[in-house]
Amino acid sequence: MRFASLPRVAILSLGLAITACNSAAPPDTFPGQPVTERNKIFKQMIRAFEPIGLMARGKEPFAADKAIASATELKQLSTLPWNHFPAGSDYAPTKAKAAIWEKPTEFKRAQDEFVAAADKLASAVQARELDTLQPAYEAVHQSCSSCHKAFRS
Ligand code: HEC
Repeated sequence: MRFASLPRVAILSLGLAITACNSAAPPDTFPGQPVTERNKIFKQMIRAFEPIGLMARGKEPFAADKAIASATELKQLSTLPWNHFPAGSDYAPTKAKAAIWEKPTEFKRAQDEFVAAADKLASAVQARELDTLQPAYEAVHQSCSSCHKAFRS
């Protein structure tokens, strides 16, 4: 039992904190809560990205206005996670690999490629054509995946 040595009151308040944030993970006590903050942004990112993917892959009808709104949001989000990877922020429940801090140049390059691809997608959707959206979508998808492959476990 993990909290066996703590007094009962501490156990109860820990229990409440865990319930309140609706997760099995302990509260994020790292200064600035970088793991919580960056994952919040990544979740917003996937929410913005998903509708574009459904259209690009023909699973939902193409809707230009929706594509523009999502791609614009994704572009705005694309620069935000990267300030939340300070040294030492490889604590649980992170999936960030040590490579992030061991190969900062490569990690930065992966960010830059992604930001550029998201920027291109935001421009491409302005054409309001599925044929223009598709390759730009695939390029962003590729940059998400290749960063995850190298830097996320
Ligand atoms: C430059 C690298 C990089 C790029 C580009 C990137 N990610 Fe990630 N992503 C990460 C890392 C690292 C984590 C793990 C963060 C952690 O657990 O602390 C992550 C985590 C996530 C998570 C999990 C969030 C959670 O709550 O566990 C989602 C979802 C996600 N990314 C979606 C995306 C999508 C969608 C894209 C592209 C539109 C993308 N990412 C682009 C590096 C990247």
